[in-house]
Parts: sequence; C-alpha cells; structure tokens
Amino acid sequence: MSLSRELLSKYANFRLLCLIGGGGFGVKKLLLITSLFLVSFLYLSACKGPSGPPGPPGPAGPAGVGLTEEQASTLEAAGVLATNIPFPALEAVNRGCPACHLLVDPDTGAYTLAFEAFERAKARGAEHPPAFKPTDDVNVTTCLTCHAVGTGPNEGKGNMAPWSLRDIVHPAHMSSQVFKLHYGGNCFTCHNVNGEGDWEVLSEAVDVNEKGVPNPNKLPIPGALEIK
Ligand code: HEC
Ligand code: HEC
Ligand code: HEC
Repeated sequence: MSLSRELLSKYANFRLLCLIGGGGFGVKKLLLITSLFLVSFLYLSACKGPSGPPGPPGPAGPAGVGLTEEQASTLEAAGVLATNIPFPALEAVNRGCPACHLLVDPDTGAYTLAFEAFERAKARGAEHPPAFKPTDDVNVTTCLTCHAVGTGPNEGKGNMAPWSLRDIVHPAHMSSQVFKLHYGGNCFTCHNVNGEGDWEVLSEAVDVNEKGVPNPNKLPIPGALEIK
C-alpha cells in the first residue's frame, strides 16, 4: 500500500518534470535534480510492468504490541473496573439482631440497638427517650414496647412512638449498601416464616451454617418472636 503510493507520487513527479522539461525551462539546477531523480527511479516506476500478486502475510507480532492507543486504554479501563466492582465474599451469614448489633465500642455504645436509637434520633435533631443507655445491650423486645404497631389514634405509627419499628428498620436496612453488600443482608437476616406461614422476628443471634440454615439441634429457633 505505502510502496505503491510512493511509486505513484514518484510517477507524478516524473510527469511533472517531463512537462517542465518539454516547456523549455533551462534551469540547470532543476535539470540536475531532475536527472538524478530520473536515474534513480525511472526503471522502478515508469518502466515497471504490472505489479505481481501480494506476498503472504507476515508472522503475527508479539502479544500486546500492535494495540492502538484507544484499544490499550479501553483494555486498561476494563481491568480497573473488573477489580473495583464489589462482590464481597461473606465470612458468615448473620441472622438475628444481635448477630450485628452488639457492643464493639464501650465509649460510644456502637453498635447496640440502643446506640442506633440515640444515634438516629440525634441525626434528626431530636433526642431519644432515655429508657436505656447507648452502651446497654437492649433486646428488640424492649424497642417494641414503644415501637410496636399502634392502634386507634396511633394507627400507622408506633404504639408509643412516632414510628413503628418495622417502618424504621425495613427501609433503613433494605436501602443500606452496608447491610446488603457487606453483610449480604436480606429479609431472612431478621425473619423466619413459621409453620403457620407467619413472619417471626429473630431477636437473638441464630446458630446457622454457611447458608443461613439453622442448626437442627437448636430448633425451634431460640428468640424467634411471633409478630403481633
Ligand atoms: C446483618 C447485620 C444486621 C442485622 C442482623 C440487623 N441489622 Fe440493624 N443495621 C445493620 C446495619 C449495617 C445498619 C446501618 C445501616 C446504614 O447506616 O447503612 C443497621 C441499622 C439499624 C438501625 C438504625 C436505623 C436507621 O434509621 O438508620 C436500627 C434501629 C436497627 N439496625 C435495628 C435492627 C433490628 C431491630 C434488627 C433485628 C430485627 C437488626 N437491626 C438486625 C445491620 C444489621
Ligand atoms: C420509651 C419508649 C421508647 C423505647 C423503649 C424505644 N423508643 Fe425509639 N423512639 C421513641 C420516641 C418517642 C422516638 C421519637 C424521638 C423524637 O424524634 O423526638 C423514638 C425514635 C427512635 C428512632 C429515630 C427514628 C428517626 O429516624 O428519627 C429510632 C431509630 C428508634 N427510636 C429506635 C429504637 C430502638 C432500636 C429501640 C430499642 C433499642 C427503641 N427505639 C426503644 C420511643 C422509644
Ligand atoms: C433489620 C431487620 C429486618 C429486615 C431486614 C426485614 N424485616 Fe420485616 N420486620 C422486622 C421487624 C423488627 C418487624 C416488626 C416486628 C413487630 O412489630 O413485632 C418486621 C415486620 C415485618 C412484617 C409484618 C408481619 C406481621 O405479621 O405483621 C412483614 C410482612 C415483614 N416484616 C416482611 C419483611 C420482608 C419481606 C423483608 C425483606 C424484603 C423484611 N421484612 C426485612 C425486621 C426486619
């Protein structure tokens, strides 16, 4: 391709020079250059016969060489993406509130259920009723004394609080990337469906295998509470 284009341009030069020569231009320098040119390529181009068939393709180059800049940067971007898409391997399946909500920081109370109550009320600019301290290891049954489903004038709310617990924990967990991605959390993290088809709340950490299936030697699941 590049060779024949080169020949073509040489041929064009040759034609031009012939024209110039025929027109009677007497510039010596030009003629000198012209003749040098002519000698060097006349038989290559002007006298050349029809070109032969193309030769066989050359051997493949070494891997990696020969990518265009665009291909190389696309490949690099794909590599970076592949190593950054989170697909965490779970160390364990957690079921029951205290499987995650336990005291890990004695100064703040993080992350007991009590701590969550104070923390989230504060985030709204309010103060949680001091029914317990953030460091207290409070069971969800205590939360439900005020955050059970309200009736009568409290319909749609908690029985003694602005929200029922379900209205807090459902969106807060199912919208949390930490809950879903880090813990692999789902409905059965907090629930069991019993023999009557009713949802139970898992108030204690459940002894489970790597799939979350409860230990058969500890059934019915301890702390699985009927929802009223
Ligand atoms: C698998 C771990 C896990 C289990 C089990 C779990 N939680 Fe949580 N919980 C979390 C995480 C993580 C957050 C913080 C979510 C965030 O901020 O992204 C959270 C936040 C909360 C909050 C704060 C809500 C808010 O408005 O931010 C409350 C209350 C709570 N959990 C209650 C419960 C109760 C009650 C149970 C049991 C019925 C429970 N959790 C079980 C992981 C868990
Ligand atoms: C004595 C009744 C009572 C108990 C017990 C109780 N709460 Fe509350 N809770 C309230 C009241 C009242 C509010 C509203 C505070 C405010 O905003 O003024 C509230 C607010 C909250 C909030 C804030 C929600 C938000 O988005 O602002 C969370 C979360 C919460 N409680 C979780 C809990 C948890 C978890 C427990 C158990 C560890 C618990 N509560 C126990 C009465 C209670
Ligand atoms: C963080 C723990 C948690 C997770 C995750 C969770 N739930 Fe719940 N769920 C609760 C709590 C706490 C209650 C209220 C218990 C009560 O009021 O006694 C509840 C109540 C319910 C109820 C009401 C049952 C009844 O008999 O009134 C249903 C239905 C339910 N959850 C379904 C789901 C489904 C479906 C998912 C998954 C998409 C889910 N839950 C995820 C904690 C959780």
